[in-house]
Amino acid sequence: MVGSSIAFLCASNSLDDIILLNRTKNKALGVALDISNAIPKNSDNTIHGTNDFSEIKNSDVVVITASTGIYLKNRNEIISSQVEMIKDIGKEIKRYCPSAKILIISNPIDVLTYFFQKETNFSRNNVLGIASSLDSSRFRYFLSKELRVKQTQISDALVLGEHGDSMIPIFSNAKINGKNVLETINSKQKEDITKQIQDYWKVLRNFKSRSQFGIAKNTYDIIESIIKNQTLSIPASILLEGEFDEKDVCMGVPIKITSQGKIEIQSVDFDKSEQELFKKSAQTIRNNIKSV
Ligand SMILES: NC(=O)c1ccc[n+]([C@@H]2O[C@H](COP(=O)([O-])OP(=O)(O)OC[C@H]3O[C@@H](n4cnc5c(N)ncnc54)[C@H](OP(=O)(O)O)[C@@H]3O)[C@@H](O)[C@H]2O)c1
Repeated sequence: MVGSSIAFLCASNSLDDIILLNRTKNKALGVALDISNAIPKNSDNTIHGTNDFSEIKNSDVVVITASTGIYLKNRNEIISSQVEMIKDIGKEIKRYCPSAKILIISNPIDVLTYFFQKETNFSRNNVLGIASSLDSSRFRYFLSKELRVKQTQISDALVLGEHGDSMIPIFSNAKINGKNVLETINSKQKEDITKQIQDYWKVLRNFKSRSQFGIAKNTYDIIESIIKNQTLSIPASILLEGEFDEKDVCMGVPIKITSQGKIEIQSVDFDKSEQELFKKSAQTIRNNIKSV
């Protein structure tokens, strides 16, 4: 569902040619046939379904949304089969598009981004796990609800760290009408908002199988910025090599996609408690990596 939703946005916004790859070929063919009718009449772009990795040869961007099953309580429940899957997919991508920008959406994203990186040895700046920008949309949503303001009045609401229970909304950075939100909310509200962001997917699960449109739009924005050479600042999971005092772990940090298509890690000021939570989150991801 997530892969086809991202493809739908790319096709309907006339972004570029799309190859939709699925292990079950008929599903890829069917979804591609459906989405092809969403390509605007003034666009010459195409969408094509396949189960053959050789057809992705020389792609500029590869988005990975495959999933070997459903988890119910924790994104790490099917971690072993997901890691096996990402390694297999990594080998094929390395063979056919070694210079592509890789966006990993499949969960657990921080662990899969790490194993993809290790399997392929791609430049770390070409491999991003996408989820913290979705978590940040949720942060903005809850802040605007709690403070009864429009979400356009909220800025710099970043969620960093693991895409999991240890994710950290950076309250010390978030602003309402340009003023720090901590001047307006109390610690109980802060705690409630944090829990609501962390549990968003569990609440959503009560109504539909998985989140789909939020992650699709957040991913589309990143693909668009890469294809159109537009600057974009977002949080995303990337291999750290000493930044934020962390090494050999992938986790959500602020990054910037430059107009030359380069990915650069940005700094952000944390307060002391956020710094400690960031460290704990890194350790949680490391433990998950070690568990495989
Ligand atoms: N990063 C985020 O914020 C975020 C948000 C939402 C979802 N997600 C994640 O995105 C992933 C996709 O979710 P979804 O709802 O789109 O799932 P879905 O509809 O079940 O799609 C999963 C796809 O993966 C394919 N697949 C299954 N096993 C495979 C294998 N071993 N190798 C290759 N492909 C395989 C399936 O192919 P068949 O058709 O052949 O079965 C199916 O088309 C999940 O990991 C989910 O947790 C991440």
